Amino acid sequence: MKPSTYLKAGLVLSISTLIVACASAPDYSGNTDSRWANFKNWTKITENRTGTGDPTGFVSGVHKGRDGYRDVYVNDIGKAVILGSAPYNYPAGTVIVKEQFDNLAAFKAQKPTDLTIMVKLQDGATPDAKNWGWVAGYNGKLEETNAFCSGCHSIATQNDFVFTNEDFLRKHY
Ligand code: HEC
Repeated sequence: MKPSTYLKAGLVLSISTLIVACASAPDYSGNTDSRWANFKNWTKITENRTGTGDPTGFVSGVHKGRDGYRDVYVNDIGKAVILGSAPYNYPAGTVIVKEQFDNLAAFKAQKPTDLTIMVKLQDGATPDAKNWGWVAGYNGKLEETNAFCSGCHSIATQNDFVFTNEDFLRKHY
């Protein structure tokens, strides 16, 4: 092969690597719902902690399952409650974001594949789900009613439908 052919092959390879890398990397750019758009600047309650396995026994196939790793972020409105102690009752406007990683390598590289969000709505919005709304994905749409999400999270009724809080972190992370 002529040197120029090597060069071209190399270029094609690096471009395709770039495309693959971009496709799997999370895209937190662009406009999305202002309620969680800049969650990366919030308090990461799992900072210096490693969350994996299935401490509740209820994760089944969701949230990357028992082999997945997770990070949880909270906005200022819910921060004092989630990092406080029971009873955990979140004020309207609380937003909790959970980043999900396929495995330890992805977690260490901070390359999440997925993201789920809970938004505490006004009183009376979704009383059956303690007024939480649900979002799947950074660019997802807030759903006031999502029986799939709320059905499972109702297991944490005592803690206002939120599994991860300071007591939980201390015990499992
Ligand atoms: C089958 C049960 C189940 C379903 C369905 C489920 N979750 Fe979860 N979720 C959990 C568990 C268990 C945790 C706690 C930590 C862990 O094990 O990952 C959790 C944690 C979270 C957290 C971090 C705050 C917390 O409660 O710990 C968010 C945010 C979240 N889930 C959002 C969602 C959204 C949005 C949906 C629907 C798209 C959803 N979940 C569906 C079980 C579930």
